[in-house]
Amino acid sequence: MHIDRRERNYVIFTIILITVFAGLVMVSGFAYGIQVPEPFMEVDPNTVATPPSPWGAPVDERVRELAPNKYEAYILAQTWTFLPNRITVPVGSTVTFYVTSKDVQHGFNVQQTNVNMMVVPGEVSTLTLTFDEPGEYTFVCNEYCGVGHQTMYGTVVVEP
Ligand code: CUA
Repeated sequence: MHIDRRERNYVIFTIILITVFAGLVMVSGFAYGIQVPEPFMEVDPNTVATPPSPWGAPVDERVRELAPNKYEAYILAQTWTFLPNRITVPVGSTVTFYVTSKDVQHGFNVQQTNVNMMVVPGEVSTLTLTFDEPGEYTFVCNEYCGVGHQTMYGTVVVEP
């Protein structure tokens, strides 16, 4: 069978490229601990903002301390805000974010961290992050969700 030299080179180049990309996925997964958000649970977007749903609780009760330095945060995304949009935890805390939307698709990205996920109505997205450094961490919506998209953000305050 005759294969043209250029065609063969393209096949080899493609195999190298796939190998490099697969390698990069492994490096980000194992060396950098990039987590892939997976569907956690389904909710009804029409009732998710009303009790007894944890996203229907009063806003200041949506961050719950499970144990010392261990928190869970139920954040409701809606056009164009997150509720709660200000979360305060002590340094060293591990926070599991449970984020869902009651209207359209949003995003949830804690800047300068590897927490970055889509927020889809009807689904709960979850990722966990440990805050080892005090300071203010901004989280933003990074999926275009309408004219107020750029105003959709909040802050995690990590107190020393
Ligand atoms: Cu919500 Cu963009």
